[in-house]
Amino acid sequence: QTPAIDAAAVLAWYDRHARDLPWRVSPTDRARGQAPNPYFVWLSEIMLQQTTIAAVRKYFAAFTALWPTVHDLAAAPLDDVLVQWAGLGYYARARNLHACAVAVVEHHGGVFPKSAAQLRELPGIGDYTSAAIAAICQDEPVAVVDGNVDRVVARYLALEKPVREEKPLVRATVQAVVPQRAGDFAQAMMDIGATICAPRRANCLVCPLEAGCLGRRTGNPLAFPVPPVK
Ligand code: ADE
Repeated sequence: QTPAIDAAAVLAWYDRHARDLPWRVSPTDRARGQAPNPYFVWLSEIMLQQTTIAAVRKYFAAFTALWPTVHDLAAAPLDDVLVQWAGLGYYARARNLHACAVAVVEHHGGVFPKSAAQLRELPGIGDYTSAAIAAICQDEPVAVVDGNVDRVVARYLALEKPVREEKPLVRATVQAVVPQRAGDFAQAMMDIGATICAPRRANCLVCPLEAGCLGRRTGNPLAFPVPPVK
């Protein structure tokens, strides 16, 4: 028996504290029916696998200025994309980025597919990215689990084993509570991991998950996740 995550508390927190990011639709605007731009969401998620939000802001601004739509990116010479990617590292990602833009234009008429399952078939889009895009853009009720969410859940459950041995439990714990506002919930969990339940600092006093958190109850939430055994 593991405690359930209070999705309503997470959403209430997000309504007040969501980070303002250029590719993000605020919870207020989302509630009014504004939909996120899937191209922006996809581009930001690929970049964020590589580096911090602060660095991604600059690259995201440069990319979207040069290539405002997926059509523009698909039509760009690969070399131009690689030049703009310089500094983000790991060029296979940039090649996949371009290949994905081409695939969306050639096979999907320039419209990103809606479901996580279809997104998963595109170049460079794995389990995490497909779930993130489908949740954020379509409110598909899927668990979106990145490194931040791993840490939040490992602490919440005070997992005794390294989190990489508990992936199914982490995923099930999140999946069990995904609310209608699946996109806001996904982004809220990542924001909580980035701004409250950080790697070396857990700001439990302002955390919406404090009441049910087993890590907090141990008195030493930073002991979780336990380090991997080498
Ligand atoms: N890190 C990666 N993707 C994110 C997102 N959509 N919101 C917040 N943090 C993130």
